[in-house]
Amino acid sequence: MSLVPTQYPATRLRRLRASAWSRSMHSENVLTPADFIWPLFVTGGKGVKEAVQSMPGVFRWSVDLIVEQAKLAHSLGIPCLALFPNTDIAKRSEDGREAWNADNLMCQAIRAIKDAVPDIGLLTDVALDPYTSHGHDGVIDAQGYVLNDETKELLIKQARVQAEAGADIIAPSDMMDGRIAAIRDMLESEGHRNVQIMSYAAKYASVFYNPFRDAVGSAGIFKADKKTYQMDPANSDEALREVAMDIAEGADSVMVKPGLPYLDVLYRVKESFKLPVFAYQVSGEYAMLEAAFAAGMLDKDKAVLETLTCFKRAGAAGVLTYHAVHAAKLLNG
Ligand code: PBG
Repeated sequence: MSLVPTQYPATRLRRLRASAWSRSMHSENVLTPADFIWPLFVTGGKGVKEAVQSMPGVFRWSVDLIVEQAKLAHSLGIPCLALFPNTDIAKRSEDGREAWNADNLMCQAIRAIKDAVPDIGLLTDVALDPYTSHGHDGVIDAQGYVLNDETKELLIKQARVQAEAGADIIAPSDMMDGRIAAIRDMLESEGHRNVQIMSYAAKYASVFYNPFRDAVGSAGIFKADKKTYQMDPANSDEALREVAMDIAEGADSVMVKPGLPYLDVLYRVKESFKLPVFAYQVSGEYAMLEAAFAAGMLDKDKAVLETLTCFKRAGAAGVLTYHAVHAAKLLNG
């Protein structure tokens, strides 16, 4: 007979769940505000706070006001912000050249936040979609096909101005092949040795990004899809190849995106590579939850904390979430 009793009634799995103190003592994963990266949208002007229609409770902030949001996040223990620009339509072009203007909205926001809140981390998205007149993440040929190598050269320029403005984590979200090595090379040779790269390594061609495209003002101009560069939602072996390639090229951490519908991918990546993996609970997931809250179908506080805890259980080092401030306030009591 085994020395370890495994049969009911000697074993009652409910014993450990019988009281709150015991449940908290046996909790396998604990969510804290340090697990969050908060995505913020920056827009032009001064004193501007603009609602994003498809994301209730999310706003586009002008640079002066985004600084206040950074202070709020820092005071709640949120370690890092992810910045995205709503570029003036007049500044969007075929090749997205505003992306490497050292005085663009992103760079202005980076400098202003670093000035006011030097201790918060800043993650900056590298991809051309908020800057192109067609809404693709890179430059296109006559057939509308996104060109890999030509785009890669432009992404290096975009990453350079972000690093020079003070970004801490460069986060390429464009899904071009070879861009991690190219950006790492530039950072190393230009003295940005401690600037990290978090690769959006396994990024899927997902319908759940649609509200984001509204937030960065590309919803109206983008009529195509991104299936020739973003991944097929049916695949996950391919995600492991994407991650392996980006690690070999020098990524410090990787991301799986979207979040909740892709927890199996997150888990496989974490199990296979044992490196920091982040999840992006994207705009459409946020919108879906908010719609259920508004309809009185789900309890907001509980649903927010439950979904975020699930990312940790699956192996995430952290989560990019539009609910970061709400969740941090709940966790801080
Ligand atoms: C840019 C980018 C997108 C998101 C993050 N970076 C949109 C896209 O790829 O079309 C989506 C984020 C979200 O939906 O919350 N390439």
